[in-house]
Amino acid sequence: MTATAQANPNLALIKYWGNRDEGLRLPANGSISMTLGELHTVTRVTFQVDREGDRVVLQGAPAAAPASERVSRHLDLIRDSAGLRAGADVVSTSDFPIGAGLASSASAFAALTVAAAAAARLSLRPMELSRLARRGSGSACRSIFGGFVEWFAGTDDATSFAAPLAPEGHWPLVDLVAVIRAEEKSLGSTEGHRLASTSPLQPQRVAGAAARLTACRQAILLRDFDALASIVEEDSDLMHAVMETSSPPLHYRLAATDALISAVRRWRKAGLAVCTSVDAGPNVHCLCPIDAADTVEARLAAQPGVGRVIRASVGAAARLLSPDDPLTRLI
Ligand code: PMV
Repeated sequence: MTATAQANPNLALIKYWGNRDEGLRLPANGSISMTLGELHTVTRVTFQVDREGDRVVLQGAPAAAPASERVSRHLDLIRDSAGLRAGADVVSTSDFPIGAGLASSASAFAALTVAAAAAARLSLRPMELSRLARRGSGSACRSIFGGFVEWFAGTDDATSFAAPLAPEGHWPLVDLVAVIRAEEKSLGSTEGHRLASTSPLQPQRVAGAAARLTACRQAILLRDFDALASIVEEDSDLMHAVMETSSPPLHYRLAATDALISAVRRWRKAGLAVCTSVDAGPNVHCLCPIDAADTVEARLAAQPGVGRVIRASVGAAARLLSPDDPLTRLI
């Protein structure tokens, strides 16, 4: 009983920060993302019916206890649904920096969900896969789908899932990720979400989310880059304001992050179509229409503090891989 799946990370344009129910990962607010192409997580799950325990290999090495336990808890949800008593071998590799605010947990839990459900012979609709992926990592529920995706916060497990907002080909945007630091962040987003409610700004951020979601949805549907740029930057700034006013405060943005955000804002004022968004890490996502991408990429590469620029276009949905798919060579 084996299956291999591939999923892409996603960039939240309207961000999820804080849970109304941590166990179920029901978010404090809805969110909208763009799935990122050319960045992949490939995961193979093999259930061994006669075996106790799971073996988890991540990035070519046995996973440390917290990560392997998180994978096992996720597999338990799938084993329970399938009525399966089996240990699993899980092998997973991502071809981009892990744990540095590039949403590696989104692609990781989306790929794990799709592979494990297929290996357990569960036949699930994309919405059900999205609900399951959400339990592993909230943002993973969006990586089940390609293109532009909305996660409806919902009020319980059954109503909190993502759905496509516009398909991959709708608007050829490019995300240029200026990598300022590629090591793992010191505090993961699971712990970060827990701190959100300690910020006095979180209630206001959550109260305004419906209006920002509407603005973002409209900007995407109308392909209005100026409108998208202003709502994406506002939403990212609000999330970091919450992080920085939590107790204890969380500072994911470094001095080089802030300097780069200011530079990009100057470029936009001078007429270059580009905006920024920062997740739970120091790296800066620079979003632009495809015809501005070469200029933005060259300018980013020349900025002090930028180690590398990763380029991603709008990506596709998570999918099962056949054994002869070239992507299986990653694992
Ligand atoms: O899915 P998590 O627990 O890794 O949280 C994701 C949090 C952000 O990336 C900062 C925002 C988002 O909506 O993806």
